[in-house]
Amino acid sequence: MRLTFFVTSLAWAAAVLAYASACRTPPVAIADPGVAATTPSLPGDITPTCPIVSLGDEPAPVASEPRQRVRNPHLTWQRDPATTISLTWTTDAASTQGYVAKAIVAPAGQGCSGGERVFAVGRSVVGSGQVLVTSVAGDRVQVPAWTVEITDLQPATDYVARVGTWSDVPGKRPELANISELLHFRTATTKGSRTPFQVILAGDSRGGSDDIRKQAKRLAAIPAVAWFFNGDMTPRGNQDEWNEWFGAMAPILHRHPLMPVQGNHELQSELYYSQFALPVEPGLPTQLAEHSWSIDLGNVHFVGLDSNTSEGMARQVPWLRNNLAKAQADPDIDFTVCMMHHAPWSSSTHGNSEAVQTAWGPLFEQFGVDLVFSGHDHDYERTIPLLGGKPAPAGQGVTYVVAGGFFAPAYENGHEWFTATSAHGDKHNYAVLAVLPQSLDLKAYSGDGSEQLDHFTLPRPGR
Ligand SMILES: [Fe+2]
Ligand SMILES: [Fe+2]
Repeated sequence: MRLTFFVTSLAWAAAVLAYASACRTPPVAIADPGVAATTPSLPGDITPTCPIVSLGDEPAPVASEPRQRVRNPHLTWQRDPATTISLTWTTDAASTQGYVAKAIVAPAGQGCSGGERVFAVGRSVVGSGQVLVTSVAGDRVQVPAWTVEITDLQPATDYVARVGTWSDVPGKRPELANISELLHFRTATTKGSRTPFQVILAGDSRGGSDDIRKQAKRLAAIPAVAWFFNGDMTPRGNQDEWNEWFGAMAPILHRHPLMPVQGNHELQSELYYSQFALPVEPGLPTQLAEHSWSIDLGNVHFVGLDSNTSEGMARQVPWLRNNLAKAQADPDIDFTVCMMHHAPWSSSTHGNSEAVQTAWGPLFEQFGVDLVFSGHDHDYERTIPLLGGKPAPAGQGVTYVVAGGFFAPAYENGHEWFTATSAHGDKHNYAVLAVLPQSLDLKAYSGDGSEQLDHFTLPRPGR
């Protein structure tokens, strides 16, 4: 979402004090059986300090203009994860005229003692909205998407925020048209920090299913600085499907930034790109802005790539080569993790993507990429370290992981010469990647968290 933003402090106190009512009793934290026992022991600073607030505890929306109701609020990063956050949502109105996007943000220690308190103590940040006009199955649709990017945050700090679509009529006092649920997020540690942290890797949901709804609160409670999602969120990518997916994923999306890549099922890709605010990388062709992105979390360089067309993959190569070379030479970066929808190596239904192997495999090997993560095949699989299409000598090579069973229809798993381990897609799956001082530690779980499907460790390379 290529929007321009500006930050301002405005005197909204009169409008918001009505919402700054007494603190609510903090709800009981959600029980999380199965996670605590399988999550590595990590410093307390990655454990959320705010309790999860259920939607039922939120104040009722103020529906002065129902068509400006906040839908699908969620978090991403467009720039430094240690000091910024981007909040995006949609509304049903056909126009953004007369309304302005605004977020109120506060450190969690002040804000999460009661959802409304964020209005009394928070900082007001204004963003932008734009209407995407597109066609779905011959029908014209208009989707206003709103984004606020908050800057100047403190690293490794818990925050709470609410977003809203506010009236903006010259000469009239602004009215709050609607507000979001309380959103929680934690900024990343400063680039180069070796403080341990976790992220979640998942992909392939093909809709906002009841299975996701059953697991979402448990998954949201797993300590994680971010989620990475490997495409195929929806069956076809129309807006009704997006509303279903955002709704099912809400407990996760309301407390973790989620960085996606586009799958082949996001056929209405305009709706995908209009609803995720992602980094715009210098050096990428303008038409591919947001198709590829990279962020640094502590000492790990994460790269998202668009593997949907061979032509597009070829056009990403010059940027990717430069991006990976810089990461390899950066003394602050210990590990590089790349992700794309189509799996370069897979023994399941779709099999290997030779297009990805050819376009990017040599770059992964040349620049010391540690882990490549994909979806598309709805099972779980990890390869042995590979180099030049063969088993790598000890201590060398690239490890490839397919985790493509975030509740999409199951595929059978296979077992080829490159397979280290695999699990049938009917178990569903997600992976928890812990970044430890001397290693990457990945554990894959069944969708309900009851079964550990895999556990492996990649030692810190001697760069
Ligand atoms: Fe796919
Ligand atoms: Fe898929």
